[in-house]
Amino acid sequence: MSGRATAIASLATYVPPRVLTNADLEKIVDTSDEWILQRTGIRERHIVDPGVATSDLGVEAATRAIAAAGLTPDDIGVIVVGTVTPDMFFPSTACLIQHRIGAHHAWGFDLSAACSAFTYALTTASQFVASGAHDHALVVGADVMSSIIDYKDRATCVLFGDGAGAVVLSAANPGQGAILDFEHEVDGGGGPALCMPAGGSRKPSSHETVDQRLHYVKQDGATVFKFAVRKTEEIARRVLERNGMTPGDLDLFVSHQANRRIILSATEKLGVDPEKVIINIERFGNTTAATIPLALNDAVRAGRLKKGDLVLLASVGAGFTAGTVLLRWGF
Ligand code: ACO
Repeated sequence: MSGRATAIASLATYVPPRVLTNADLEKIVDTSDEWILQRTGIRERHIVDPGVATSDLGVEAATRAIAAAGLTPDDIGVIVVGTVTPDMFFPSTACLIQHRIGAHHAWGFDLSAACSAFTYALTTASQFVASGAHDHALVVGADVMSSIIDYKDRATCVLFGDGAGAVVLSAANPGQGAILDFEHEVDGGGGPALCMPAGGSRKPSSHETVDQRLHYVKQDGATVFKFAVRKTEEIARRVLERNGMTPGDLDLFVSHQANRRIILSATEKLGVDPEKVIINIERFGNTTAATIPLALNDAVRAGRLKKGDLVLLASVGAGFTAGTVLLRWGF
């Protein structure tokens, strides 16, 4: 990383209060608590009430993150929001959040990288702080996946939940925490394996697209599973090797939480001590852009993440997109 040292100065998360358990899903589709738990590791997920949107979750997390950094919204220079479920096509969710939190000096934009949105947004926003363009950047990862999930499709509806996480990135003094490196990729050939086919310019919304249920997540689960295991290991190994490090050097490995078996397979292949891997998919399901901050938050609360710890974030998502961020924790 060139430029000023940039660190995560604060972290906050928010999930809506309503919980959808595996037992609840048993009443909606032909599934079982046993199947979901064994195949995915998920027990429950949080789901918004009707009318609650991504920006509502993002505002909660953002407000808390800014306060936790000891800043006010006016200190924020740029807002990057990772999401695949913006409140609407436009204005961007970043604009909606900027207005609601009163970040009067900030500009910002949404970033679309599906489950890799948080790592992509972290890398993107950190460039503005590292370059000196801004002293403080706000990164939000938020998704209301329940708004694009087909609750008649048992293969997808059990996987996802709603949530938000936010961090403030600030210029750091040498010796404090810092983002050390990143590695990102796309493999656009993976597009058909995980997508929402209609509602965009290719297939604008129509009675037909609604009748065909094309406004929901469509997924080839096995293809996504294999790619996620292989790519998580590959991209994590590459960023560590480039920095002269090994998996044994890590204090914490924070993977995107898509499936417990994906995380366990990838980290086993990589050779990370299971004690250094955080998995909290059990309580939240896959919240897309929010899984990594939710996992970081749980790690902090459990005393598993301390100032100076070496942390590797890793994600694979629709696109396919993939990303890792290597950092020293700053607080
Ligand atoms: N309850 C009961 N049975 C189910 C359910 C369910 N909810 N869903 C599927 N099944 C059935 C299937 O119909 C199939 O039945 P069949 O053998 O009679 O045809 C059987 O279970 C096995 O199905 P598989 O798809 O082979 O099950 P698998 O073990 O691969 O697990 C899963 C499916 C959980 C979707 C897995 O493929 C997966 O996690 N893939 C990754 C997808 C993912 O996480 N995507 C998120 C976004 S991308 C990302 O974050 C990386």
